[in-house]
Amino acid sequence: MRFGYFDDKNLEYVITRPDTPLPWINYLGCQAYFGIISNTAGGYSFHRDARLRRITRYRYNNVPYDFGGRYIYLRDDESGEFWSPSWQPTRHDLEDYTCRHGMGYTLIGSRYKGIVAHTNYFVPLDENLEIWQLTVTNHRSQRASLSVFSTVEFCLWDAQDDATNFQRNFSIGQVEIEDGVIYHKTEYRERRDHFAYFACSGKVEAFDTQREALVGPYRSWDKPLALERGRLTNSVAHGWAPIGAHQSKVELAPGETRQIIFVLGYHENPRDQKFDPPDSQILNKRTVKPVIAKYLDSAHVDAAFQNLRRYWQGLLGILQVDTPDVHTNRMVNIWNAYQCMATFNMSRSASFYESGIGRGLGFRDSNQDLLGFVQMVPSRARERILDLAATQLPTGGAYHQYQPLTKRGNNDVGGNFNDDPHWLIVGVAAYLKETGDVSILDEPVPYDNQPGSEQPLFEHLQRSFQYTLDRLGPHGLPLIGRADWNDCLNLNCFSDTPGQSFQTTTNKDGKVAESVFIAGLFVLAGRELADITERRGLAAEAKSYLAQVTAMEDTIRRHGWDGEWFLRAYDDFGRKIGSKECSEGKIFIETQGFCVLAGIGLADGMAVKSLESVAKYLATEHGIILQQPAYSRYYLELGEISSYPPGYKENAGIFCHNNPWVMIAETRVGNGDRAHDYYSRINPSAREPISDLHRCEPYVYAQMIAGRDAPAHGEAKNSWLTGTAAWNYYAITQWMLGIRTYYDGLQISPVIPKGWRGFKATRIFRGVTYHITIERAGEGNHVALQVDGVPIKGVTVPPPADGRKEVWVKGTLT
Ligand code: GLC
Ligand code: GLC
Repeated sequence: MRFGYFDDKNLEYVITRPDTPLPWINYLGCQAYFGIISNTAGGYSFHRDARLRRITRYRYNNVPYDFGGRYIYLRDDESGEFWSPSWQPTRHDLEDYTCRHGMGYTLIGSRYKGIVAHTNYFVPLDENLEIWQLTVTNHRSQRASLSVFSTVEFCLWDAQDDATNFQRNFSIGQVEIEDGVIYHKTEYRERRDHFAYFACSGKVEAFDTQREALVGPYRSWDKPLALERGRLTNSVAHGWAPIGAHQSKVELAPGETRQIIFVLGYHENPRDQKFDPPDSQILNKRTVKPVIAKYLDSAHVDAAFQNLRRYWQGLLGILQVDTPDVHTNRMVNIWNAYQCMATFNMSRSASFYESGIGRGLGFRDSNQDLLGFVQMVPSRARERILDLAATQLPTGGAYHQYQPLTKRGNNDVGGNFNDDPHWLIVGVAAYLKETGDVSILDEPVPYDNQPGSEQPLFEHLQRSFQYTLDRLGPHGLPLIGRADWNDCLNLNCFSDTPGQSFQTTTNKDGKVAESVFIAGLFVLAGRELADITERRGLAAEAKSYLAQVTAMEDTIRRHGWDGEWFLRAYDDFGRKIGSKECSEGKIFIETQGFCVLAGIGLADGMAVKSLESVAKYLATEHGIILQQPAYSRYYLELGEISSYPPGYKENAGIFCHNNPWVMIAETRVGNGDRAHDYYSRINPSAREPISDLHRCEPYVYAQMIAGRDAPAHGEAKNSWLTGTAAWNYYAITQWMLGIRTYYDGLQISPVIPKGWRGFKATRIFRGVTYHITIERAGEGNHVALQVDGVPIKGVTVPPPADGRKEVWVKGTLT
């Protein structure tokens, strides 16, 4: 069953009923000011850091699940009836409800008793504010006398403190109101130099800034007392819960349309110009007033919206494909690329499943996110790489995360994940291949943000590699540390106390538990590093890296192979994990996918065998399960993985992040049918017809789909912020469609289904537009390329020597 449809032409998903199985959300803003918005206008906004600069309040895990947001009410001042055109919070029986989630905007509206109202929510480029552009039309045969109400609930900035420290917070809220603009200035009088504001383009009849005055005692947003009475109370918040609410009257003749614009924004003042007059405690509004005036003008708002649309058309235009599969086209051309921007911006911090409090930018996650983002805004990828590298420790190890506002690493979500440092190599390699900008390798970057410790980025990569060599275990495989990619395989944790976090609890400095996954990652990263090193003219070093890689491959062959698949790890007692000898957790996906994608076992048949085992034991119609059989009880020596009930998350859930590893692995052994089949099983668009089972948004990937051991097999959770976005984008574009960035040029080497007659693509790469046509003339994966009609050898299309900006590439598959 569906709850809407794709409008590919407009780059939108259109939701046609408000009661989606879960809130189906979108992101507003893609630079510094961000918001998340659900299909019923729920959600919140923040500036740069979802925890430390939260602008509006949101209560997670609410009842209903999604409650609180950017709510607008209309009131028929003759009958006294009021409703919300976005359905929530009043939940009236609306006609023609639609929510169009587009690229950086969301348009929600409906018709009720002859009044049609739509609100376009978006964040203009290069501004720290959001627009709510409301259009109301009277389709009645009589005049309509309406009041329009807008509401936001301000957060007292630090979202963590806001949700816990009530003994203080109920006394600190402060606002100012001037010319109908509501300024939220809690803590501005002391150490903050920023404030929020909420403005309205209509004539403001009345306002409220104290929540209680608007909603009334023992009431909620669905039935605010002031709306029932028909008039806001002009309350001025002192303490308690500051809000912003405007009331504006609209008289509409039959057929008449009116627009009202609301602007919610964030503004900073220079430290020495906070107050006006300077010796007062009154906000200096001189710098913000022109901004407000600009965006209360609909001509500017329309222009800003067109600008945003053009911006996204440009970003998506970097790669457009036309394949025989509509779901592939839609995800590559629109939604998967769009999701990669969200994961790049948010890492895993703010979604409807991530509270914006717990997690900043992850070292491992952010590096992987680059795989799907780097082509979009390379300059921001570059900045991110340098920020990440600056948090690297002198040992080559890494903090697991940093807060975007401070850019300092911290151990709040744990440390000593021994896979972390290698992802930096993977991220940098992706950047270099896309841009060719080797200057980044010479950028001086500190360790642990310590001034004076700067070394070229290249040295950071070398230390990442060395980090593993310094930490090998009894079999010569990498020690796992707290965990590897699988956060929940906690082999040194031994947690027996309820409430202990598996991620942060002090574990032993284990010298036994080893990870075959890190070994595979080491091989991949080591090859990348050797490539980079060779191109720096350091042939001897490059050779020594390759020797280490070969040695590790050998170790994997000897101690990481179980006969039919790759082992997963050795525990603290030196016992195998992910082996036929185990009673549960006999086979894991991570090492099958990753070892093969790293090229291990391609020559000796191990790769093919391992992938056959995946197909046999792990693949389901809803995707590939993380491991089998699921752990049926808690194992002290395995940690969090066995804390989840069977079928969920890392305990045999379909962890969508690592499915594309297997897809890439399948392309490496030449099996395009299977690669694309796996791709389709978790493709959200392909799953749209089963939205009632899948439940999450059909336009973006979710982190997890419940595995076959779970009662709700096929149900997705944790949509949006997941490495699934970047890896699927990378797998389909670079490995299946085979449009692969490389140092010397764009490679074209597709491994597509046998039944496809070919496909077309346009790729902008280093300023040159490549028009690519692939045709099938046989069933295999051998490609013969012609560039501008001239056959070339191999699969790398070199950059045009004569500076041309457009190139036509034809590939024939046999
Ligand atoms: C989450 C984490 C990621 C980890 C994965 C597997 O998605 O963000 O870092 O690799 O879970 O545990
Ligand atoms: C839990 C989750 C895992 C996530 C981690 C992040 O362990 O199961 O997916 O990566 O938390 O802290």
